[in-house]
This record gives sequence, structure tokens and C-alpha cells, in this order.
Amino acid sequence: MTTSPAHQRRLEGKVAVITGGASGIGESTAKLFVRYGARVVIADIQDDKGRALCDLLGTADACYVHCDVTDESDMRNAVDTAVASYGKLDIMFSNAGTLREFGKGLTNSDKAEFERVMAVNVVGAFLATKHAARVMTPARRGSIVITGSTASALGGVVPHSYVCSKHAVVGLMKSAAAELGVHGVRVNCVSPHGVMTPLLIGVVGMDEAATEAFLEGSTNLKGVKPTGEDVAEAVAYLGGDESRYVSGVNLMVDGGYSVTKGMSFK
Ligand SMILES: NC(=O)c1ccc[n+]([C@@H]2O[C@H](COP(=O)([O-])OP(=O)(O)OC[C@H]3O[C@@H](n4cnc5c(N)ncnc54)[C@H](O)[C@@H]3O)[C@@H](O)[C@H]2O)c1
Repeated sequence: MTTSPAHQRRLEGKVAVITGGASGIGESTAKLFVRYGARVVIADIQDDKGRALCDLLGTADACYVHCDVTDESDMRNAVDTAVASYGKLDIMFSNAGTLREFGKGLTNSDKAEFERVMAVNVVGAFLATKHAARVMTPARRGSIVITGSTASALGGVVPHSYVCSKHAVVGLMKSAAAELGVHGVRVNCVSPHGVMTPLLIGVVGMDEAATEAFLEGSTNLKGVKPTGEDVAEAVAYLGGDESRYVSGVNLMVDGGYSVTKGMSFK
């Protein structure tokens, strides 16, 4: 691993918006980005958590904006806050997400719940991409990273709504990468498997220890307990200049799960 001072400040001068930045993977990413020299706008609906995180990170490097990603004026405001506060937008991390109705089959699934998942996970990513493109395209630079999931490549395990939404964001990513590449803007996905966050712990109906054991058993790569920071490192790579020639990629951060679908050599 490179540990030169320059590498440790690899996002120096960058400005990022992180949706869903108040908790879990978004929170880990906000912390890592600031450590690497970026300034961040945390866009979330959990106002107290978001503001507390900004206080922790320091108000010179982080600010909070209330943003329901399904609301276009909120999303526009989050992007405009980055430009007004820090002068530009280099990285959009479209990460806010929801997972509902775990364990329900098709016939028990609720239409309104399906639509809510699509609204947050897909419409939210569309609005984040649209408003990032609005300011990145004239600047002829920028990196948009959308959080997918192993459910972006596989069916099963998680609800239909979630699988549909995560497949959809990969389509959005490819479509946006195709349009925005000619303007110097890159678009990629980062796809985690199981990271112990409120999203996961709250819905699977198992306690934390049981969830952890389930995840440990399902990943191919043994000896690593995945954290939000593992995903954040991938986002820092995709957001920063080290990936300047990478666009249109769905980067799996899943310990090999999507390759082996949980099977492994003994
Ligand atoms: N944890 C995992 O194992 C896992 C695996 C694959 C993908 N993901 C994805 O990672 C992303 C982050 O999830 P997490 O695991 O960190 O969960 P989390 O619950 O800790 O964080 C999700 C954040 O999104 C915010 N959010 C929800 N709805 C919102 C809305 N309408 N507008 C703005 N913000 C909203 C929440 O307030 C929360 O802060 C999601 O897109 C999720 O689907 C998580």
C-alpha cells in the first residue's frame, strides 16, 4: 500500500456531495474524504446525525444540507450549496438508499413500498446525476459515483424492489457515462455486499451477531470483515484522479461474492 504524504492527501482540493452521508457507508466516505483533503457537503434527511458529523469533521471541511433525494429542488440545492460554499463540484457520491420488505415474496410485496424503493434508490440517483452533470459539464471535469450493490448483478437474497432498483442504477450509470464522457465527466458504480450498517441490521430480522455470521458465511474471501471504509476507499479511487481513465464501470466491493455466489473451496 502506498503511504506517501501525497497519497494520504489524494483528494486535496476536491469538493464532494455525498447523499446519504449521515450514516453507514456515506458517513465512512465523508470521514475518509476529509482525511484525504476533500471538502464535503453531506446531504441527508437525518438532520441531527448529519450536523453532528459535520461538527466532528470541522465546519471548514464539511457542511450539512437537508436533502430528500427524491425531491428535485432539494437535490438542486445540495449541488448549489457545494458550488456556493466551496466554489465547484468535483465528486458526486450518489449513495442514499433504502431496503424494505426483507423476506417478502412477490405476492406479499406492497406496490407503495416498491415505488418508495424505486423513488429513493433510482429517482434519487437520477436527480443526483442530473444536477451533478449540470455543473460538471460546463467545467468539463467531474466524477459521479453511484452506490449499487451485489443486487445490481444478482437476484435473490434481497427483495425484488431492491434488486430492480440496483440493476436500474447500473443502467443509469452506463447511460450517463455514455453521454457525459464527451464532456470530460466520468460515471461509475460502487457495489458493496454486506456491510454492517443501520440499513442492513434494521431490516433483515436478525440480530447483529447473526447478520455478521450470515455475511461471513456467504462471502468467498475469508479473513476480512467488511466495513464502510472498505467501500469508501473504492469511492475515493473512483472519485479521485487515480481513476481518471475509468468510466462506465460497476466496481464490486464484495469479497468475491458476485463471482462465486457464496460458494467457496474448502
Ligand atoms: N450495508 C450494506 O450491506 C449495503 C450493501 C449494498 C449496497 N448498499 C447501499 O449502500 C448505500 C448506503 O447504505 P448504508 O448501508 O450505508 O445504510 P444507512 O442506512 O446507514 O445509510 C443510508 C443513508 O441514506 C439516507 N437516506 C435514506 N433515504 C433518503 C432520502 N430519501 N434522501 C436522502 N437520504 C436518504 C439515510 O438517512 C441514511 O443516512 C445504499 O444505497 C445501500 O443500498 C449497502
